[in-house]
Amino acid sequence: MSALRDKQVIVTAGPTIEPIDPVRFLSNRSSGKQGYLIAGALAAKGARVRLVSGPTCLPCPDGVERISIETARDMLAAVETALPADAFIAVAAVADWRPAHTSGRKAEKGAQGSTLELVENPDILATISRHTTQRPGLVIGFAAETHDVFDRARAKRIRKGCDWIIANDVSGDVMGGDENAAWLITDEGEAEWPRAPKQTIAENLAAAMDAHFSSR
Ligand code: CTP
Repeated sequence: MSALRDKQVIVTAGPTIEPIDPVRFLSNRSSGKQGYLIAGALAAKGARVRLVSGPTCLPCPDGVERISIETARDMLAAVETALPADAFIAVAAVADWRPAHTSGRKAEKGAQGSTLELVENPDILATISRHTTQRPGLVIGFAAETHDVFDRARAKRIRKGCDWIIANDVSGDVMGGDENAAWLITDEGEAEWPRAPKQTIAENLAAAMDAHFSSR
């Protein structure tokens, strides 16, 4: 029997969108595919998965509870509400910034000039990694990098305080594509996962988590 059976896992996925006014927003090219596949692979092993998802076109995987949000701040609030959990996996491409002001009315050309003032969004992975009362036992992040993938990911794991990080080379067509090349970086070392369908990456991660919980 899988050690993931009945484990509570929270997964974030997809982009966040940050409104400028009722018709415009800032966002990114994340499709949500990798996060949805991870949620599905964990549910297939019996985990109780809550998927906190930004807007995507994807159906909710079988056996997964989806919580739909739009902004980074809503994503953080939804994750905190979903605690406690045995594991947290941050796969979402959270918008790093949001407009400092959101207008309730459609902004008109020329009315406010062309400068958009931005403020930084909360870092959900770093916040959950350093949660004082309800930190999940296993916190996993992704590091989407276009260069120095390995070194940047190792530094990011320490900076964000997570246990594992999956280094992801997004220099090609990964965002929106069906394949991914990755390294799993933990405090015990690294494993290379060669370029493979995103489903294989999801199954690799589920297998690594299964082995982790079996050894507890
Ligand atoms: N992440 C998050 N909240 C944010 C930004 C990122 O939870 N506000 C998570 C992502 O889900 C991912 C990890 O942090 O698991 C790394 O995301 P990445 O985009 O690679 O890093 P950034 O924090 O944007 O750092 P940088 O811009 O320096 O690459």
